[in-house]
Amino acid sequence: MFNWQAEIPLIMRKSDHTRPEHIAPDDDIEQSLRPPRLEQFAGQEKIVQNLKIFIQAAKQRGEPLEHVLFTGPPGLGKTTLALIIANEMGTSVKMTSGPVLDRPNNLAGLLTSLQEGEVLFIDEIHRLTPAVEEYLYSAMEDFRLDIVIDQGPNARTVQLTLNRFTLVGATTRSGLLTAPLRARFGVTNRLDYYDAPTLFGIVKRSSDILNVAVDDEGAMEIAKRSRGTPRIANRLLRRCRDFAQADRSLAAFGGKVTSEVADHALRALEVDKAGLDEMDKRILLYLIERHGGGPVGVNAIAAAIGEDPGTIEEVYEPFLIQQGFLLRNLRGREATGMAYAHFGRSKARAKGPGDPQLPLGFEEGA
Ligand SMILES: Nc1ncnc2c1ncn2[C@@H]1O[C@H](COP(=O)(O)OP(=O)(O)OP(=O)(O)O)[C@@H](O)[C@H]1O
Ligand SMILES: [Mg+2]
Repeated sequence: MFNWQAEIPLIMRKSDHTRPEHIAPDDDIEQSLRPPRLEQFAGQEKIVQNLKIFIQAAKQRGEPLEHVLFTGPPGLGKTTLALIIANEMGTSVKMTSGPVLDRPNNLAGLLTSLQEGEVLFIDEIHRLTPAVEEYLYSAMEDFRLDIVIDQGPNARTVQLTLNRFTLVGATTRSGLLTAPLRARFGVTNRLDYYDAPTLFGIVKRSSDILNVAVDDEGAMEIAKRSRGTPRIANRLLRRCRDFAQADRSLAAFGGKVTSEVADHALRALEVDKAGLDEMDKRILLYLIERHGGGPVGVNAIAAAIGEDPGTIEEVYEPFLIQQGFLLRNLRGREATGMAYAHFGRSKARAKGPGDPQLPLGFEEGA
C-alpha cells in the first residue's frame, strides 16, 4: 500500500497541510504561484480596485505610492500584493521583516540604500523594536533620518535625506501594531478570507502552472475545504495530486484529481467537509465537551489545546467566526448551534465539565 507519509518532507506534521502559516519547503512553489499583476490577483475586490486607482494616480503625478499596510490572517496574499505593487509601479522591492531589523543601524543601512520610488517591504512589522520604530517615523513622514554619531561629549546628530520610497508593511497581528505606526500609513487594507468560487479560480490557475490534472468538481472540492486561504488551497492541490498519482486505490481515476480523489485525499489529511482541520476541531470540541459550549476565555482554550492565545485569536478564530462556528464576546468564546450540528451533538445533552460523551462523527470527519 502507498505510504503517503514517506512521500512528504519529514518536518511536516500531518496538520501542516492545513496550517495557514508559511512553511519553508513551500518557498519555491509559492513563488511560482504568485500572481505578478493586479489583473491576475483573484478576490479582495475592494482592495484591488483601490490599489489600482492609487497606483495610477501616483504614476500620473510621478510620485511614489503612499505607504501601504496589509493586515489579516496568514496565506491570504499580503506578500503577494506587496510584490505586485512594486511590479505595477515599475520599480524594485527590498524585503525584510520586523525581527530581522533589530537595531536602528540595520534600518538606517537599508533606508539609505533605497532608490527613488523603490518599495521597502517589512513583513511582521508588529515585531519592530520601539527604537527601530521610532527611527522609521521620520523616514516615513519626511524621508529624513536623524542619525546619532559617536557617544558622550562627541555625540552629534547627522540628518540624512532619503530617496522617496514606499513602505509596504504586513502583519497577521494587527492588534499588536502601535497607533503611531499605524497612523503613518496612507492606505490600510485588511485582507479577508476568500469564498469558494474565488478559490476555485485560484486552484485552476495553479493547476495550469503546476501541470496538475484536475477537473472542475475536484477543484471545487479543494476550494471548499481550504479554510478560505489560497496558500492552503495551493498546498492541498499538490497533496491531492500525490494521492491521484500514487494511491493505488485511486488508480481508476487515471491520475486525475476528481471530486472523489480530492475527497479521499482530504479525508486522509483530516480536513473535514467544512474545511475544518485538527486545530479547529480541537478548539470547538473543547468548548462543546468541556464547557457546555462556553463562554470560555481564550487563555483557557490556549492552555487546553497547547497553542499560543494570540495565534488562536488572529489565526484560528477569525475563520471559525466568519464561518459561523464560533462567537466571540466579552465573556469569552462560545460554540454556536452550527458547531454543535457540525459534530452531531445536541446542546441539551452537553453537561459541561467532565462530560464523558465522545464526539460523534469526529472520526468520520463529519
Ligand atoms: N488572490 C490571490 N490569487 C492567487 N493566488 C494567491 C492570492 N493570494 C494568495 N495567493 C497565493 O497564496 C500564497 C500565499 O500568499 P502570500 O504569501 O502572499 O500570503 P501572506 O498573506 O503574505 O501570508 P503570511 O502572513 O504567512 O506572510 C502565494 O503563493 C500566492 O500564490
Ligand atoms: Mg507574507
